[in-house]
Amino acid sequence: MGTVIYDDVFIRLERARWQLSSDIHFDEIDPALVNDQWRFDLRHICLTELSALYATEMFIRDFYADIDFCSFISVWFYEEMKHHLVLRKYLEQLGETFDEAELPALRLTFAPGPAIETLTMHYCGEQRLAHWYTAFGIHAPEPVLRTIFKILAADELRHAACYAKYLRRAVTNNPACLPDILKMALWMIRSSNEAPKHPTTITEPSVVGQLEDPEYIPRMLNWYLPGRDHEKPVQRRILALMGELSDRPMGSPRDLLSAIRETQGSPAPAAA
Ligand SMILES: [Fe+2]
Ligand SMILES: [Fe+2]
Repeated sequence: MGTVIYDDVFIRLERARWQLSSDIHFDEIDPALVNDQWRFDLRHICLTELSALYATEMFIRDFYADIDFCSFISVWFYEEMKHHLVLRKYLEQLGETFDEAELPALRLTFAPGPAIETLTMHYCGEQRLAHWYTAFGIHAPEPVLRTIFKILAADELRHAACYAKYLRRAVTNNPACLPDILKMALWMIRSSNEAPKHPTTITEPSVVGQLEDPEYIPRMLNWYLPGRDHEKPVQRRILALMGELSDRPMGSPRDLLSAIRETQGSPAPAAA
């Protein structure tokens, strides 16, 4: 196995990278525009981004023999912790701080899981988070915060593109893993505002479940992405990759279900 993907994504992500100290105008933040609810929610998003730490431990453990993927995770981890940092710095400008001593209590150790399902879950999760952050970027009450969410959404989309590369490689190397990818994708697509599916919400216990308000994501989604149809762009992007991997067009979750039935004869979704 070569290191082709890592070499390529390293350069791509390096070219696209934004600078914390020069691209975010912390001195232009207007704290008066950010009400208590937004401060509360931002604290939650900031702590949720910290979960990249626990996910990295899991990746490096469960992808032990995949040096290429673990190399990519070094960049992913760096960028996700940067998301945590930019939100923490933003909150500090508002006078909001975290008690460092309380952060270790949030840490989780994820149970070992099948690598291919983890990859698929993260591909779908990055797509969905990019969608949420795009909406938060539109509705955020303060201009610097709107910029931050737009930048974060672009990062999450790029991460999804990286996971897609590893999924393509997995299917090329071992076509037999395709049904597991398709089943996990279908399970991830079946998400709602009330029970949104993201790697930080679906484990037991979950990352978000450790926070002061575990229901903060459904609440924010019902405010900023109401209704069911808003998921269409997420579905479209997931189905596009699943169609590519399966070598057949997919326009709806039903097409995905059909592909699963044909490849394996069992529509039962994989466990998270
Ligand atoms: Fe992130
Ligand atoms: Fe990400």
